[in-house]
Amino acid sequence: MAAPRMASWTYAEEFITPAEVVEQATLRGEGLGCTPVPSSVGATLRLLAAAVAARHVVEIGTGAGASGLWLLEGMSPDGVLTTIDAEPAHQRAARQAYAAAGVPPQRTRVIGGDAAQVLPRLTDGAYDMVLVDADKDAYPVYVEQAVRLLRSGGVLAVDNMLWQDQVADPAARDETTVTLRDLGKQLREDERLLPCLLPAGDGLFAAVRR
Ligand SMILES: C[S@@+](CC[C@H](N)C(=O)[O-])C[C@H]1O[C@@H](n2cnc3c(N)ncnc32)[C@H](O)[C@@H]1O
Repeated sequence: MAAPRMASWTYAEEFITPAEVVEQATLRGEGLGCTPVPSSVGATLRLLAAAVAARHVVEIGTGAGASGLWLLEGMSPDGVLTTIDAEPAHQRAARQAYAAAGVPPQRTRVIGGDAAQVLPRLTDGAYDMVLVDADKDAYPVYVEQAVRLLRSGGVLAVDNMLWQDQVADPAARDETTVTLRDLGKQLREDERLLPCLLPAGDGLFAAVRR
């Protein structure tokens, strides 16, 4: 990347300053090793949630709560975030982050367990937005569940779809990269979706469910 282009990219990445509570959750997430979304992705999630006045959102991969706080800020004030994570320590951190941000307890539903087991229990077409940000090798399963959960006009967001700059490199053939590269192409062709791929953070795929 040419230097001015790189400078523009960095400028855009740092354009939105996260709230203090989001910064704290981000630091906590980094400490726990559950890579939180950067502010460019968080602000995009907040915007998407606000654009559809989201009242019912599913998040796959709670982490320490950073992405959830971005989503909650964009959602309707009475909106409920259903968030799933397999790690109790991450869930505890997320609950603390929501409380520190003054989020009323009834606005979050934190579900523990393997997302592949939890998602089939959620209702078809009942959600305004779904964020996928958990174990990458299971993304194809999560995305198929997400499309089922979304109402018409709802938003699908999938993080890490450029996967550490590996997806765009045809020489990169490791399993995770191939899974995410193939998934991106499959989603691009999916007639149920209006897709785009944003180069924010590690790559945010976003689509509207037709
Ligand atoms: C990248 S972190 C999520 C970061 C969070 N979305 C944020 O931006 O603050 C991925 C999370 O997925 C969780 N996870 C990994 N495998 C999972 C699974 N099979 N089911 C549910 N959660 C899982 C991890 O425990 C981790 O907290």
